[in-house]
Amino acid sequence: MTRTQTPAALNLTRRLRRLRRTPAMRALVRETRLSPDMFMLPLFVCDGEGVRREVPSMPGVFNLSVDEAVKETAAAKADGVHSVILFGIPDRKDDIGSLAYDPEAPVQAAIRAIKREVAGVLVATDVCLCEYTDHGHCGIVIDEEIANDPTVDQLVRAALSHAAAGADIVAPSDMMDGRVGAIRHALDERGFENTAIMAYAAKYCSAFYGPFRDAAGSAPQFGDRRSHQMDPANAAEALREVELDIAEGADIVMVKPAITYLDVIARVKDAFDFPTAAYHVSGEYAMLKAAARNGWIDEPRAMLETLTAIRRAGADIIITYYAREAARAIA
Ligand code: PBG
Repeated sequence: MTRTQTPAALNLTRRLRRLRRTPAMRALVRETRLSPDMFMLPLFVCDGEGVRREVPSMPGVFNLSVDEAVKETAAAKADGVHSVILFGIPDRKDDIGSLAYDPEAPVQAAIRAIKREVAGVLVATDVCLCEYTDHGHCGIVIDEEIANDPTVDQLVRAALSHAAAGADIVAPSDMMDGRVGAIRHALDERGFENTAIMAYAAKYCSAFYGPFRDAAGSAPQFGDRRSHQMDPANAAEALREVELDIAEGADIVMVKPAITYLDVIARVKDAFDFPTAAYHVSGEYAMLKAAARNGWIDEPRAMLETLTAIRRAGADIIITYYAREAARAIA
């Protein structure tokens, strides 16, 4: 068919391809943009000095002693990433997770060191017991169940000790009922009314946390997390979780994981129009790294496509192990 023989049946007054012709045109009409401002980099902090141990299932992610965590934060800042979230990997664990609120434990020491040595960086902390209990569960186990209310007491202690060390944001990730309200109340009572709470509000019981549990040594020694983390089949329930956490005083709500829950991110953002974070978790990162290492995908493109999709779904904040790489890629 020649150019002059366009079939009359085709209505070509609107040609959407016009806006896709050149890089400048595509940039002009682009709907979703990523900025390093929205990235938060997770760091795993351990005891010792000069420790920088790569996590086997997470290439480019390390267990870092406090001095190395400071260096990593400074390097992230140089890349344009101004927020980190800290996870503790203590040498010692017990059945009530008491290192979670030890002022000399790795996370508390790292908060102080980062605040002292890296100006202008926001420090968030994960508040949970699974990294601190010898059984690997997120709470106090009584009669083979995670006992909700005694666990909340422990989480409150952990959150208070992070706030006392100087954390800007505490982020409870345990999924106990009532913990956001209890933490908010305790923070306010102790004069930490400016410490924000980012609630892991809709946290699913996901297979994609596997590499994290390698990194943190936090795989449960028996049973699983189905009694407190959400069933992947549920979305309406996620809205109830988010609604409750907002009512209890959450400043930021989170959906986790990200790419298998884009619909949930979109619904949460739509329903509440609240600052919404999405956690691109360890397994999501590891899948891309593994495929890239095999030469099966173009990693920079797959990374940016993934993060853009999370943003497009409605996330304001993206917690990702790719934070530094992505920041450099979009600079
Ligand atoms: C619990 C916590 C977990 C993650 C963040 N906070 C692990 C879990 O619930 O088992 C997972 C993060 C990831 O997979 O990257 N402290």
